[in-house]
Amino acid sequence: MIDRCLGAIRSVCVDETRTYGLHEPSFEGNDWAYAKECLDTGWVSSAGKFVDRFERHLAEYTGSRRAIAVVNGTAALHVCLQIAGVESGDEVIVPSLTFVATANAVSYCGGIPHFADVEERTLGIDPGKLRDSLLEVAKVENKRCRNRITGRWIRAAVPMHTFGHPVDLDPLVEVCREFGIPLVEDAAEALGSLYKGRHVGNHGILSALSFNGNKIITTGGGGAVLTNDVALADRTKHLTTTAKRPHRWDFFHDQIGYNYRMPNINAAIGCAQLEQLDGFLARKRAIAERYRKAFDDTPGVRWFREPDFARSNYWLNAILLEDSRAFLRDALLSATHDARILTRPAWIPLHKLPMYQACPKMDLSVTLDMERRLVNLPSSSSLS
Ligand SMILES: Cc1ncc(COP(=O)(O)O)c(C=O)c1O
Repeated sequence: MIDRCLGAIRSVCVDETRTYGLHEPSFEGNDWAYAKECLDTGWVSSAGKFVDRFERHLAEYTGSRRAIAVVNGTAALHVCLQIAGVESGDEVIVPSLTFVATANAVSYCGGIPHFADVEERTLGIDPGKLRDSLLEVAKVENKRCRNRITGRWIRAAVPMHTFGHPVDLDPLVEVCREFGIPLVEDAAEALGSLYKGRHVGNHGILSALSFNGNKIITTGGGGAVLTNDVALADRTKHLTTTAKRPHRWDFFHDQIGYNYRMPNINAAIGCAQLEQLDGFLARKRAIAERYRKAFDDTPGVRWFREPDFARSNYWLNAILLEDSRAFLRDALLSATHDARILTRPAWIPLHKLPMYQACPKMDLSVTLDMERRLVNLPSSSSLS
């Protein structure tokens, strides 16, 4: 089976002389020109025209009323949760199968992650299982949700769109409404993905994007908050720009804010990358199609397809080993790395990490199953 898998991957990663990273950036548009303009004019830092332009274009692209550009996706999540009202001692529902930043952002607010299981169909939070678990442990008081076991408020839920595949948002929104829990989307991996025809990032009160070097578009490092609520957008902008009241010379800060504003030189690259996004998305679908065909003929393994209701950005392709072949996962990782194809397993589920072991959690059997069987494949748009 390992040889068959390697053969299937080689039909996309064809050059035996090079190393294939999981996701590499592409700069084929105005990236150099816009970055040079910043260097030539000296507008490299916290002011300049590209930040406003990037925010405007991002909002237009995603159909959100407002976008606020920040220094990275983790910072975006942190301010989303703070604006959502997460305070010290509050619980926040997050998947255990996610990058550590989703839970860390909760901790930065003094909150406690409450780990939810995922469904195999989407790799995102399972709405039915979440509802069953809340019916067991939660009660609604004054339209707010309290965990009866821990006594703490459940102040937000943060579904994540894993590898760019949208989570099933409608039933999740419904569960959150039923229990009075604000929904914040971790859309770090999912720019360009649609849920029932609408961009992800538009289904909760706020959402977070990442433009790290490994994402579908990059600003070097960077992130953004999306929201359709103008008041929340203004508060987010204020909080991420040191909470400074606008004035020509006075430095009056009306709360403890953050220096999270995206620098102009990063936004310049972001503007150029956004211009190329439709092209990247088309290439990602072409790469996904090649993997699909190659793995159709590979027994013991299934290529992960976007859910029916979604149009995924296919940020990272993934395969799932059949249960009886799960024991071969590390041999596959090893064989591909030997061939300089840098495949990767799913994240170690966050409830296993030392700082999160004592956190509340529901049954996480699907998460643990995905950990055993999932392997990510190189997916850079340059592969097409
Ligand atoms: C699911 C998820 N959330 C949050 C982040 C954090 O983004 P950043 O690396 O830009 O801080 C990432 C990626 O890096 C991510 O994959």
